[in-house]
Order: sequence, then C-alpha cells, then structure tokens
Amino acid sequence: MNLGQCHNFSDFRTLAKNRLPGPIFHYIDGAADDEVTYKRNSQSFNDVDLVPNVLAGVEEVDMSTKIMGQELSMPFYCAPTALQRLFHHEGERAVAKAASSAGTMFGVSSLATVTVEDIAKISTGPKMFQFYFHKDRGLNDALLERAKAAKFNVLALTVDTITGGNRERDLRTGFTSPPKLTLDSILSFAFHPMWAWNFFTKEKFDMPHLSGHVTEGTNLAVSVGQYFSTMLDQSMNWSDAEKLCQQWNGQFALKGIMSVEDAKRAVDIGCTGIMVSNHGGRQLDGSRAPFDQLAEICDAVGDKIDVVCEGGIQRGTHVLKALSVGAKCCSIGRYYLYALAAAGQAGVERALNQLAVEVERDMKLMGVTRVDQLNRSNIRIR
Ligand code: LAC
Repeated sequence: MNLGQCHNFSDFRTLAKNRLPGPIFHYIDGAADDEVTYKRNSQSFNDVDLVPNVLAGVEEVDMSTKIMGQELSMPFYCAPTALQRLFHHEGERAVAKAASSAGTMFGVSSLATVTVEDIAKISTGPKMFQFYFHKDRGLNDALLERAKAAKFNVLALTVDTITGGNRERDLRTGFTSPPKLTLDSILSFAFHPMWAWNFFTKEKFDMPHLSGHVTEGTNLAVSVGQYFSTMLDQSMNWSDAEKLCQQWNGQFALKGIMSVEDAKRAVDIGCTGIMVSNHGGRQLDGSRAPFDQLAEICDAVGDKIDVVCEGGIQRGTHVLKALSVGAKCCSIGRYYLYALAAAGQAGVERALNQLAVEVERDMKLMGVTRVDQLNRSNIRIR
C-alpha cells in the first residue's frame, strides 16, 4: 500500500500501521480502558442522519469559517497532538506546512518536538498553542511567554488530563517517550528499518518546551501517563484557568469541556472558545462522545462562545453533522497523525485535501453553499 492508495481515514491508518514500530502505532491508535468512548466518538455520528435539500444552485461553495478570530479556509483544523517527530522525522514541521498550505489552523502541543519559534518561522496560517498546567510555575510562565512572543493566535488550556488515562495498549507495549530500547522494541525497530534509520540518524529526539525545566532532561524515557500524573498540577481549578486567560490576554479556549455547567463557566471566565472533547477517548473511558454532547452545549453557550467538536471525525459528513448541530468548527487528531506517520508532509497534505474535498462534495449534496446555512433542520436523530 502507498500514499496514492489512501482514500480515507482507515487507509491512512493501515499505512501508518505498516510504517510504524508497534508501540508507536498503538500509542496513537490506542485509548483508555476498554476503548468504548474512543469507538463511540466516531459511531455517534451514525445515529444522526443528514436531510439534504436539492435544486439549490451549488456551483460555488465557500466552506470557510471563522473560529476564535481566525479565518480558516475549511471548517476543520489540526488539533494539537504530542510527540510528532516520533511518528515521522519531519514531525510538527510537516503538519505546520501542510496546514498552512491548506489555509487552516495548526495546534502545537506543550509536548511538541519542534519549538514554537521554529513553527512560527515556517507557518503562514493561524496557530494555536496547547498549554499543560504544570506544577512548575516557572515552566508555565515560560511556555506562555514563548507562545506569546512567537505570535501564536490562540491559547488552549487542556483540562481533561488531570491524571493519566489508563492506556492499556501502552502498558502492554511498554511505550515511553522517547522509546526505551528493550528486546521487544529492538525487534519492532528491526522490522521497521526506515523508521528506525530516520529516528536514530535525524535530529535528536527532544521535547524542547520542557528542556531546562525538567531536571531529568526531556530525553529520559517516561510514559505519557507518568508525565500527566507527576508533572501536571492536580490542584488546577477555575481560578487558575481564569488567571491564565487574563495573563494570555487574547483568544483563549478550554480543551476538554463536556458539561453544560463547565461550558457556562468557560464563558464566565472570559474564554472565546471551547473544545467539546474527551481527548480522543484517551482519558475517561465511558465518558460521552463529543458529538452526542454537542447539542446541549451549543444550546447553552453557542451564541456566546465558539464551540469546536473534537473527536472521532473521520468523514466530511461528520463535519457537516457537527456544524448542523451548532459547532463552528471541528478538529482532527488521529486522522492527520496516521497520514503524518504514513508519508510526512505529503501525507498530511493529502489527508487535509481529502477531507476538504469530502466536505465540499457533501455541502453540494446537502444543497448548501456556506457553512452557516447548516442547521438543525438538516439533521434527524434516528
Ligand atoms: C496524549 C497526550 C499527550 O493523549 O495528549 O497522549
């Protein structure tokens, strides 16, 4: 299988699986506990049907949207995800370039493997910085200042990782970042010589935003669960989020809001956006799917704050369904990560293009020419 044969999410996933050592593939592909929420995130879209209108004159379709002050050429963007140089040696650079040329936003993680300064140099589009709230306040201040100085447009505080999710695939494979050399992992690397060659001969693996603040260094193998549970501040509360929002003094979102109550509080503390998300099913298994929860959140705050539907998006129709319910935009994670692992920048470009082509085709089939024409009258619950 090659990139030219990737026509959908599942094709990119298959190619990524072929290209990556097992522990790394399963880190992306896996989720918490029994992975029920992870599966539901995508399945939830199948419980709602689209009701198209016809004869609408759909020659010219404009699928652009504006989210937290940012003009996007398409109603989805690349959610921040960690450790991208582990998946492909081009890592965040590839995603930044692909998102820029597609005209959409790129989210850079606190656990990125390329600095915000380097991303700022190569990205021409809107940029979001994803913020983890560490116990080390010096690290928090440094992250915020760096993202500000690099002129990132949006700050998103992740609020659903107060402790590590139970990712049993990672426990089984022994996944750590960077990967630990055990007998199993050496075998796995030996079966993926291209990946291993690139990983061990290209730029040394690092999480540069943490360097200088983590005494052990950022190259010591730790699991993501360990990082969440030991380095992040479990006392984080609404007043911390409010202070951070004020300190940033710009477009500010909470990533990982699931309840109406919390969505309302996000408005109260001055957020301009929220990501309705359960972290791709990687944290609390059994929590509701973002799409299932979207209507009640949009009803409560949709006119006061920009709502993003994040999780499970695999098709253009998923995006259309979320927009019909009331989201301003969607974000994708695994979709572009599989594509990155499959083929670097060319892979991400193809994935973004593929999904954009689907959205455009589906808008025409739905009889709409602008995303704001989508509303609840376009959908029915089964
Ligand atoms: C994860 C974090 C790092 O889900 O976002 O693995």
